[in-house]
Amino acid sequence: MKGKFITFEGIDGTGKSTQIQMLAERLQNLGYQVIVTREPGGTRVAERVREIVLDAQLPLSARSEALLFMASRSEHVEKIIRPALLAGKVVLCDRFCDSTFVYQGLHCDVEMLRKLNFIATEGLMPDVTVVLDGDPEMLLQRRTVRGVQDRFENKGLEFQKQLRQGFLALAKEEPERIKVVDGMASREDVAVAIASCLKIS
Ligand code: TYD
Repeated sequence: MKGKFITFEGIDGTGKSTQIQMLAERLQNLGYQVIVTREPGGTRVAERVREIVLDAQLPLSARSEALLFMASRSEHVEKIIRPALLAGKVVLCDRFCDSTFVYQGLHCDVEMLRKLNFIATEGLMPDVTVVLDGDPEMLLQRRTVRGVQDRFENKGLEFQKQLRQGFLALAKEEPERIKVVDGMASREDVAVAIASCLKIS
């Protein structure tokens, strides 16, 4: 596989989308072919699945929720991510398997999730994962009111704290792949820190 697969993770409000856009522009200016995508989503079917999994009004069991994320990922990897990597592109993806291990890992067995993820991705893992880290309390204050909250956004501060610990624990387990960047710094400083993790000059 010739391309590079870079994923972005972290709790709500750390500015992932802004950083992904900034990095995409930076890489394009350096001559890379870049695609920006997100999970759940990225294909028409996966975007439909997204509507279901994020709808706070729809009751959903923990296992079904995990399987829906996997169905969405399977589509996304097969139709978008793998072909782009084979064509030598850099793929920047907003959330991927580590979100599953952390969010669904709160209610499902993580080993089962890893197995399901392996099936959904046929073993594809990110080359590098950037976790944008930040203090949940400050992020909650900083976040502007975004109107209707999705299934995961309306679960409160304790939930965000658990998620943060989950991402930091994963980064400890896999320090080679998962890099933690302080998302509370200025946009520009965060962008520089990300570029240095990715060894982009
Ligand atoms: P999104 O609006 O993209 O959130 P954010 O802007 O915070 O990235 O919604 C995605 C939500 O889905 C987010 O709360 C995390 C959750 N999620 C999971 O629970 N499991 C997963 O595997 C993925 C990819 C996302």
